[in-house]
Amino acid sequence: MAVICFTNLKGGVGKSTLALHFIYWLLAIKKRSVAVVDADSQASTSAWLEALEMDIKCHRITDPDQLAEEIPELEKQCEYLVVDCPGSLGEATRCVLLTAFFAVIPITPSGLDLMSAAAAVRIVKQTQMARGGLPKAGVVINKAVKNTKLLKEAQEVITQLEPAVAFKQIIYQRQAIADAFLQGETVWSMKGTQEAASDYQKLFAEILRLAR
Ligand SMILES: Nc1ncnc2c1ncn2[C@@H]1O[C@H](COP(=O)(O)OP(=O)(O)OP(=O)(O)O)[C@@H](O)[C@H]1O
Ligand SMILES: [Mg+2]
Repeated sequence: MAVICFTNLKGGVGKSTLALHFIYWLLAIKKRSVAVVDADSQASTSAWLEALEMDIKCHRITDPDQLAEEIPELEKQCEYLVVDCPGSLGEATRCVLLTAFFAVIPITPSGLDLMSAAAAVRIVKQTQMARGGLPKAGVVINKAVKNTKLLKEAQEVITQLEPAVAFKQIIYQRQAIADAFLQGETVWSMKGTQEAASDYQKLFAEILRLAR
């Protein structure tokens, strides 16, 4: 019923890690019906979902035309369709934005990332003009280090990226999150990861509130 995508033209900002944890949280913790489109040819989300042995439909679709045509069909079969986009703002990403209700744009607190977020928001804005205001969008700071000047600057910048909202919850740089993919786990199934799980949980609740 709602397509939520994770996108940014920049690679390595945490799209797949956030998308995977969001999928796990929706399905295993909130008990919602979820399906997944992995639009990235690297297929890291598909591989991670396989390692987790989750009972979930994951569709690997990277062709832009197919994304535009198939996402609206797949959306009808679940409550949330989560799309992990490739690390570029190419045609595939634009086609996902044509179908999405909400775009989550992760950035890491660095000058270059802040520029890439502005470029992503620009494309969201163009799409909104064509689609009467959709997709809605929000920017989240990922891999943040507490009490740093870079984090403060990033917090200021993301409040100015209208029409995207700035998520209140920040996701900090944590070893457990970095280890999760290789271990085929999530922060909910690993030891000593309560803080990371709690941060994710608060962010995901914010996403659901805005994606209504
Ligand atoms: N909060 C975090 N703390 C520590 N490491 C993180 C965090 N978020 C993501 N990472 C790590 O950063 C790297 C990049 O993350 P990820 O693959 O999710 O990014 P991506 O945006 O999907 O990249 P790509 O554009 O290549 O698809 C991975 O090694 C991941 O484990
Ligand atoms: Mg990825």
